[in-house]
Amino acid sequence: MMGWLGAKLYDRLMRGAESKHFSQWRREALSEVRGDVLEIGAGTGANLRCYGEAPTRLVLLEPDKNMRKQLLAKLAGASGNASSGNMPDHIEVGTAYAENLPYEDDSFDWVVSTLVLCSVRDPEAALKELHRVLRPGGKLAFVEHVLDYEDHANRRRQRRWQPVWGMLTAHCQVIRDTGRSIEECGFQFETLERDRLRLGPKIVRPVIRGRALAV
Ligand SMILES: C[S@@+](CC[C@H](N)C(=O)[O-])C[C@H]1O[C@@H](n2cnc3c(N)ncnc32)[C@H](O)[C@@H]1O
Repeated sequence: MMGWLGAKLYDRLMRGAESKHFSQWRREALSEVRGDVLEIGAGTGANLRCYGEAPTRLVLLEPDKNMRKQLLAKLAGASGNASSGNMPDHIEVGTAYAENLPYEDDSFDWVVSTLVLCSVRDPEAALKELHRVLRPGGKLAFVEHVLDYEDHANRRRQRRWQPVWGMLTAHCQVIRDTGRSIEECGFQFETLERDRLRLGPKIVRPVIRGRALAV
């Protein structure tokens, strides 16, 4: 659970990283997202401005009530605001956890996960659910921070600081090899960029981003 204050401050705390990296990375990951779209852990709605084209159907899931409150406020403020991005007229908001999605098999063309697979309790169960609800040819768009893939000293630092970081951040995990999990759960990368934030704690800097086809 994010907590009232954490949810309230989330956008402000992310502002520097958004303007330096994430806004652009979100836009690139979402540039081809079309049709019926499911976004898990939508948080405060940071992706709303970043869709390249208005989805036909957009479902935003956010299980945390404090984050969902911020999301609903943003959606209410965005309606009628021309600068709010490419959005359908009606957006569905749900409360489901990614590990247990209340949708039939083959329901969506795209699923979106940005900075969520570090937080879910069981990333493999979540990815299998995302795979299940995707139609044949469906894809995952993702931006996630991960276990350091090249800097061994930082990987050791991530392992050392994980217990403290987890306590401070509603159980966010910096030691997940999410790229590997994506592949192991039946996705094939269409694009995969390995990047690094140039600000913030070193343990959250390594990032993967791109698109993966459900095979
Ligand atoms: C770091 S925030 C990212 C929010 C947003 N996706 C973004 O890009 O800014 C992580 C979000 O994942 C949500 N979350 C945590 N566990 C989850 C789960 N098991 N299923 C779905 N969402 C979850 C949290 O409530 C939180 O809103």
